[in-house]
Amino acid sequence: MKLKTLKTVKIKFLISCFSIFSFLSCNQQREQKIEQSVNVQPEIALDLVDLQSKNKLGKDTVVTIAKDPVYHKTKKYHAANALLLLKNEIDLSKVDIKNTLIVFECIDGYKPEMSLELFLKTNPFLAFKDVDAPKGSNWEKIIKNGNEMNADPFYLVYTSAPTKNQEYKWPYNVIKFHFESKNKNIEALQPKDDEKALKGFALFQKQCITCHAINGIGGEMGPELNYPKSVTEYWKETELVDYIVDPASFRNKVKMPTLGITKQESKEIVDYLKYMSKNKKI
Ligand code: HEC
Repeated sequence: MKLKTLKTVKIKFLISCFSIFSFLSCNQQREQKIEQSVNVQPEIALDLVDLQSKNKLGKDTVVTIAKDPVYHKTKKYHAANALLLLKNEIDLSKVDIKNTLIVFECIDGYKPEMSLELFLKTNPFLAFKDVDAPKGSNWEKIIKNGNEMNADPFYLVYTSAPTKNQEYKWPYNVIKFHFESKNKNIEALQPKDDEKALKGFALFQKQCITCHAINGIGGEMGPELNYPKSVTEYWKETELVDYIVDPASFRNKVKMPTLGITKQESKEIVDYLKYMSKNKKI
């Protein structure tokens, strides 16, 4: 009988050691992941004109684009596979794809950007010559605001993207690609002169920013928390503190997870949110 109890105690002890250990390691993993996403990535850029002059664009492929959004009809182009090109030039396994934007630099300084994750999913091609171009030109003319333009040197097209979705960018006169971290503006959210708020900011950056934006900067899975109205302006402070600790005790089928935040930490986050409510801008 005694032996049995001792055994159970031993097993229980082992189980609890194991669960504490796995809890710690899970938590560590999560922190690492989030920290990684907040770090600014090293500058990665591709000079397309330079690559073309070195014959490094890859195979010339003819692609057909139904409902081309620039020419408003079906078009055919000689193009290089932009995905293969990226993979040849950049080690994508080192890039935090979910938190990266690809920026397309154009001749006139126009710099549209889109999510790298989306870009990689949709068969992007760099068109460099229009199959139906009149003799002596690479392109059929583009008429924009009454002006005649051409698409030189590159026009970015996709063989499998919905042409009306604004998230996809179809720039022409493209000369370079570069990558930017989605979180590069994070310093703009850092309190300058308030120790208390600074503590809350560190927690917010670790636990919240992947899902929530402040002044338009941050994730979009949850609602913006500061602009135009701060949550501290329409929640009672004590309730807000409790909500952050345990959202499920307020809302049925809540999407926001219980993050294991203590009441004290939640108060610090709320201090930060109050500070930011006096620093709104977008
Ligand atoms: C995994 C994503 C996620 C994380 C991480 C997260 N939230 Fe949320 N949060 C949500 C979502 C989604 C909602 C919208 C309500 C719902 O369905 O849960 C929400 C709602 C809220 C609300 C209520 C907003 C309102 O207008 O009523 C507050 C306040 C809030 N979150 C604060 C925080 C804070 C502070 C943190 C960090 C400690 C945090 N959240 C972390 C996803 C998240």
